Formats: sequence, structure tokens, C-alpha cells
Amino acid sequence: MENRSQWGSRAGFVMAAVGSAVGLGNIWRFPSVAYENGGGAFFIPYLIALLTAGIPILIMEFTMGHKYRGSAPLTYNRMGGKKVEWIGWWAVLVAFVISTYYSVIIAWAISYSIFSINLSWGEDTEAFLFSDYLNLADPGQVGGFVPGVLIPLIIVWLVVLGILFKGVKKGIEIANRIFIPALVIIFLIIVIRAVTLPGAAQGLNAFFEPNFSQIWDPSVWVAAYGQIFFSMSIAFAIMITYSSYLPRKTDLTNNAFIVGFGNSSFELLCGIGVFGVLGFMASQQGVAVDEVVAGGVGLAFVVFPAIINEFPALSELFGFLFFASLVLAGLTSLMSITETYVAGLVDKFKISRNKAVLFGGGTAAIISLLFATRGGLNFLDAADYFINQFGVAMLGLVEVILIAWFLRKLGTFKEHANEISDIKLGGWWTFSLTIITPIVLGYTMYELFRKNLLQLFDKPTGNYGGYSDAFILYGGWFVAGGALLLGILLALTKWKSSGNTNEKDKKKSEGAK
Ligand code: ALA
Repeated sequence: MENRSQWGSRAGFVMAAVGSAVGLGNIWRFPSVAYENGGGAFFIPYLIALLTAGIPILIMEFTMGHKYRGSAPLTYNRMGGKKVEWIGWWAVLVAFVISTYYSVIIAWAISYSIFSINLSWGEDTEAFLFSDYLNLADPGQVGGFVPGVLIPLIIVWLVVLGILFKGVKKGIEIANRIFIPALVIIFLIIVIRAVTLPGAAQGLNAFFEPNFSQIWDPSVWVAAYGQIFFSMSIAFAIMITYSSYLPRKTDLTNNAFIVGFGNSSFELLCGIGVFGVLGFMASQQGVAVDEVVAGGVGLAFVVFPAIINEFPALSELFGFLFFASLVLAGLTSLMSITETYVAGLVDKFKISRNKAVLFGGGTAAIISLLFATRGGLNFLDAADYFINQFGVAMLGLVEVILIAWFLRKLGTFKEHANEISDIKLGGWWTFSLTIITPIVLGYTMYELFRKNLLQLFDKPTGNYGGYSDAFILYGGWFVAGGALLLGILLALTKWKSSGNTNEKDKKKSEGAK
């Protein structure tokens, strides 16, 4: 069998998986998603999605990677043959698209950690972001490069690809062993400072106060599933790839619980920290918390600098720590996102790891330059909106239905995981994946499609910049649909070597536990 890279230790794997899960999604996305979707009431769908989809799918993906020992395309091929390989490629391509703009947000965070040294964003942080820093062009227009984004973006890719060149054990594992403890320490300092600021309680009340009227809204559930999948790095090839580097003797279920709960605890901590400072800001201005809240880009790059300006002391230091934490969390996730297509290329085309990093990572880096132009933010928004809804969430649903209903692999996977894990999987796991997730996610996805497809032209999408729905439609659908089509094409190409998917190898990998 092929000589596959391996993690150096169990702790190394867990650290890398946590590093992948904890990312921009936790610090930047979760607090605003939670707030927009009912505050405290969001926790019910969030917890249900975590326990019935997030953790079960994480266990399933760890088992798939470990059992079939391949990148996502190879894993799908070994599991169900050529006819399902396209799902693996689709997942890899969704990861590819995400990496092209994820890297750009890390680049912004690098710039902002430098700006924080002398608070150079000034008083009007919104004008600073959109005009002074991004020099934002009209929607659909590209404009020239923005040097303040381009330079840190090149640095991001040099760091990530440099780490990937070093390999799984000497590159990814070591980087995570350094970055993750640093991130946890920095973040604890920020959160402790946040909750001790005057007015913090007001923010925490807004965060935790349940708004049960929203719980029946399907879009709240879509948001919860989407957040769980993105945040746990599941359904877009990452965890399958990472667990394919596990040694034969390992623990799967326990690791999945550690990673899943570790990620959600960090996420909750982020929510507490972010809303603590929002409460502080609201009390400084004498307004309600919902008047200072903003989602996505705005929260991290407009509201935060404004709050940091108001800090009673050490504004520069806390500004730097916050943006440095975004950089660290982002880098460890970007490594894992990029590793999905590096592994896919190595497996399918039998090229060396270095060539795969250079070709795959290089192509992603070149495409990411589009987001470093004056029109970058608009393109980023369209790509992100569509790839998340119709890439990640859709993939989760397709994956679960295929494995539970069509290939009927859950029994085999359960046996495989139970044989080597401390915690034994029971009926809860099978029931969640066979019944609960397909029904809840299927229904909410249906609602999402209905809303997006049927009402697209009647309703403004409400994105910043006020650009047209047609821009979102073409920009977004082109990207999301393109990932699927290209995935099918890649699955149709021939495997470069014998031995990868042949019967002997397949049997070996099916039989080995
Ligand atoms: N799981 C990563 C994040 O939350 C992708 O940002």
C-alpha cells in the first residue's frame, strides 16, 4: 500500500483538527450569526445541529478518512466507486474556492494588526475600511490592486504554502502546536478584559436573552447547520483528509468529541468576548446593543476598531491582540483547507507533494488576487454567500443521504470506529445521521432553495454595497455551480496509477481496521 504521511502523535492530530475547526468562522462569523438569529434562541438549533449533525458527521468523517486512508476523492472512490467520486471532488473544490477568499480576510487582519499599533483607522472606522483601506470599487468592477491587501496576501500564501511544503508531521503538526496554544492564551486575555469592561453585562444579556419567536423560522435552522458545518470544518473534505493521516491504532470517537466540543467552547467564548465589548460600546454611546451590532466584515473591521478606540487603557495592545488572534486562527484553518486539494492532487495524479502544493496552492493564490483588487470585497461577498449555502450545507446533506441511505455504510463505520475507540457508538449516532439530519437539513435546504431561487429577483439580498441580485446570481451561481461541474469532470478523469483504487487495494483498505 502507498506510503502515506502520518501525524506524529495523537495530540498532534487533535491539535491540528482543533486548529482547522477554530477559525475566522468562530471569531468573526458566529457572534453575529447567533445574534441575527434570535440570540439565546439560536442556541437550541445550534445545540441540536451540533449534537445530531456536527459531532455525528465529524465521527463519520474521521472514520471514513481512517478506514479508506485517502483524500476526499480517493475516500469516496474507495467507499462507493467511480460513481460517487465526484462528491469528493466537489468537496475539494468548495474548499478550494473558500481558500481563495479566506486568505484575503487573513490578509486584512494582518494589515489591521499593524494599524492597531497607532490606531491609524481613526474615528470613522467605516469610512476607513471601505474608502481609505479597501478603496472599494462599484459592484462588478475589478479596479486595480490594493497594495495594502496584496502584500499581506502574498505573505499569507508564503507562510501557508511554506508550512505545507514541510509536510503533515513536520509542517502542519508543528505549526499547530505553536499557533493553537498562542491563540488560546491571547483569546483568554481578550475575553477576560472584555467581560470586565463597564457595560459588558448589557451585551451578554443581548447575546443570551432568548427570543423564542424566531425559533420556528427555517432560516434560523439553516444558519445553525451552516455555522456548525463551516465552523467544524466538516462536509468540505477537510476532516476526511486530516484523519487519513492517522495511524491504524488510534481513537476516533473520543477525538471527535474533543475536537467538536473544543471548537464549540471556543465559539461560545468568542460570543461572550464579542458581546462583552459590544455591551461596553453601547453603554459608552448610551444606545441599545443591537444598534452597535453588525455582521461579518463590519463586526471585525468596523465595529471592533471603533470599540478599541474607546478602551479605557492599552487600546493599541488589545487591538493588536485581537487581530493577531484572527491571523493565527485563520492560518491554521487555511492550512487545512489547502491540504484538501494538495492531498487530492497527490492521490489522483500521483505527483509529488511539493508539486501539488506548488500547483494547487499556487493556483488558489493567483485566483485570490482577484479579491485583492478594489472590487474584491464585492466578489468575496458573492462567492462566500453562495459557496456556503449551496456548497457546504448542500454537501453535508448529500453526504449524509448517500452514506446512510444509498450506500448503507453506517453499520460498517460504526463497527470500525467502535473497535478502536473508547466511547462506543450507539443508536443515537445512526438515528441522527439516518433520520434527524436528513429531515431537518433537507427541509431547511428546501426552504433555502425556494427563497433563493423563486424570490431572487423580487427581494433584495441585503448585502453591503447595495449591488444587484444579478451580480450575486451570476457571480455566486457561477462559483457554486462551477465547483460542482468541475468536480464531476475531475471524477471522470483517469487515476494516474494502478493500485489506488484497484480491487486488491480496496479490499485491503476495507479489511484493515
Ligand atoms: N472551520 C474554519 C472556520 O471556522 C473554516 O473558520
